[in-house]
Amino acid sequence: MTRHFLTLNDLTPTELDALLQRAIELKQMRAAGERYEPFRGKVLGMLFEKSSTRTRVSFEAGMAHFGGSAIFLSPRDTQFGRGEPIEDSARVLSRMVDLIMIRTYAHETLETFATHSQVPVINALSDMYHPCQLLADMQTWYEHRGSIRGKQVAWIGDGNNMCHSYINAARQFGFKLHIASPANYTPDAKLLASHQDCVTLTNDPLEAASGADLIVTDVWASMGQEEESTQRVLDFKAYQINNNIMAVADNDALFMHCLPAHRGEEVSADVIDGRQSVVWDEAENRLHAQKALIEFLLK
Ligand code: CP
Ligand code: NVA
Repeated sequence: MTRHFLTLNDLTPTELDALLQRAIELKQMRAAGERYEPFRGKVLGMLFEKSSTRTRVSFEAGMAHFGGSAIFLSPRDTQFGRGEPIEDSARVLSRMVDLIMIRTYAHETLETFATHSQVPVINALSDMYHPCQLLADMQTWYEHRGSIRGKQVAWIGDGNNMCHSYINAARQFGFKLHIASPANYTPDAKLLASHQDCVTLTNDPLEAASGADLIVTDVWASMGQEEESTQRVLDFKAYQINNNIMAVADNDALFMHCLPAHRGEEVSADVIDGRQSVVWDEAENRLHAQKALIEFLLK
């Protein structure tokens, strides 16, 4: 059966743990200058309906390290953007490449694509989830602090795709997640309801941050919500991660952000550029974690 990676739930907790260990190993191999090219001649198709810096470069570089290659596709220059059905695009592309990653709007687009694909499909961000980022975040946590099991994580900000993937991660990696979001920006109600054992919701950022081992946030307006930006800046004003928030977290708490960040909005410059921030490791680990994912799906 073809395995896909549309959400973190597509892998078991045991598989996820093994994948992180492999990511750490691949990172060490690269640092040692070791050549490892198990996927010569293999091709990754990359379909981007939204902008990207980290995701595109990490997937493309990862395939190059492995001896394979990647093809960048956007709606502007493919029939996908001119209304060719997703099902047909999936049937055609998956006869030509070995693996496909998609960054899109509706999560259903990914599900439909995967249903009709002969090869593994990776979610490189949808409006609902961003599971690849969580692999990198969990690797980063592990490298700095060891196991995240039983730890306390605070998500402060929009109940968006990243927040939803943190909800899945709480169950899959065994941590407690405390979410603080403004009333009209809370995460998906069904997802929350099915994770009551490991996730809480408040609208008080200090309450969520209190005693946390890890503080995480993301932009206030995600891709596709640009026209709401002005209103969102007003609605999220009290949710900035700054020294007042970090002061109530554990003294050794880490700060993460998937990037791109807006200093002075969701995070103050002194926090993102400060001693507790691990955002650059987090960004680099996109490369190593996704290489481990590619290897898992292609082997
Ligand atoms: N964090 C992340 O996915 O970054 P890009 O949008 O640059 O890919
Ligand atoms: N929530 C953000 C994440 C960007 C990597 C967005 O969807 O735009």
